[in-house]
Amino acid sequence: MEISDSTLGKLKILKEKYTSIGQDLDAYLDGLIYANPLTYWDYIEVDALLSLQKPKTDFPDEKIFIVYHQITELYFSLISHEIEQICKNGKNISEIGQDLGWFDTLSVSFFIERLKRVNKYFEALTNSFDIMRFGMEREQFTKFRMSLLSASGFQTASYRYIEIASTDLKYLVYETERQALMDADIHHQLDNIYWRRGAVVEATGAKTLTLVDFEAKYMEKFHEFADQYQPMNLWKKYQALSPADQKNPDLIKELRELDVNVNINWPLVHYRTAAHYLAQKGGESKGTGGTNWQNYLPPHFQKRIFYPPLWSEQELAEWGKAWVDQVFSDHLKTENTIPG
Ligand code: HEM
Repeated sequence: MEISDSTLGKLKILKEKYTSIGQDLDAYLDGLIYANPLTYWDYIEVDALLSLQKPKTDFPDEKIFIVYHQITELYFSLISHEIEQICKNGKNISEIGQDLGWFDTLSVSFFIERLKRVNKYFEALTNSFDIMRFGMEREQFTKFRMSLLSASGFQTASYRYIEIASTDLKYLVYETERQALMDADIHHQLDNIYWRRGAVVEATGAKTLTLVDFEAKYMEKFHEFADQYQPMNLWKKYQALSPADQKNPDLIKELRELDVNVNINWPLVHYRTAAHYLAQKGGESKGTGGTNWQNYLPPHFQKRIFYPPLWSEQELAEWGKAWVDQVFSDHLKTENTIPG
C-alpha cells in the first residue's frame, strides 16, 4: 500500500511535535492502533449528563425546573470561558492546535468578537426564560418548591463570578453605599456587594439561611477571585486600550449590550417569572421563606450598572425603568397579581 506525501508530511509534523515535548512518536502511534473510535455518547458524556437530575418530589414539572437551571449553569460557564479569554488577552494556538499560552496584548477585534459571543449566550438565556415562566404548572411548582427550601438560584456562584470579572467592584457595591465606597479597597467593596442585601427576611432584615449558606461556601473564594480578576476585568481591559480603540463603536455597542443583558434583561425575565409564581394578592408569598425578593429583584431598584461612563445621565437615571413599568402593567392586565 502506497503512503502518500501528505501522510508522510503529517508524520513529520507529528515527529517534531512529540520530540519537542520529549515524547516518543512510535509509542503514540501504537496507542492509535489500539484505541477504539470515539463515539458521540462517550465524547458528550450523555449518560453522565442525563443522570444528573434528581428531583426531590414526584411532581413531573420539577424535572423542568432542575434541567433549566442546569442549562443556565452551562451557559454561565460558556460566558465565563469567553470572559476569561478576553481578560487574559486571548489564547495563542499554533497551526497544529498547540496551546502556546496567552498573547501579550489584547486585540480590539478579539475583544469585540468574544463579547458578541457572551451577548449571544445571554440573549439565548433571556429568550428561553419563558420555559420557566409558562412551562410549569403553578400548582405543581408551589408544592415542589416547598421541599427545596432554602435552596435558591440566588446561590448561583457562577453569576457572581461573571459580575466580578466584568467590571470594577466599586460599581457593584450596594447602591446607597456606592458613592461612599468608590475609592475603598476592593475587599471592602466586595464585603458591601449589592447581593448581600438580597435573600434577607423581609420583615426583620436578618440574613436567611439561603444567604448564610451561600456566604459560608463562597465568600472566601470570591475574595480570591477578585484578587485575580479585578486588575484585568473587562472594564480595566477597555480602559487599557488606546484612546482610538476606546472609541470603537462596535466595542462600545457590545459593552453596553452586555450591561443591559446582565443587569436588566436577564434580571427582568427572571423577576417576571418569580412574580408569576410567587406574588400573591395581599403581598404574601409562599416558597421563599419570606424574603425581600419583591423589593430586591427588580433591576430598576438595584441599579446595577457595569459601565456607567458609557451611558448618558438620563440613561443612568432611568436604568431599567421602562422595562419595570411594562412588567407592572402586564401583571395588572394578565395575572391579577402584585409583582412588587
Ligand atoms: C420558577 C423559576 C424561578 C423562581 C420562582 C425564582 C425565584 C427567585 C427569587 C424569589 C429570588 C430572590 C432570592 C430569594 O428570595 O430566594 C431569586 C434569585 C435568583 N435566582 Fe431565581 N427563580 C427562578 C429561576 C431561576 C433560574 C432558572 C435561575 C438560573 C440559575 C435563577 C437564578 C437566580 C439568581 C442568580 C438570583 C439572584 C439574583 C440577584 O441577586 O439579583 N433563578 N430567584
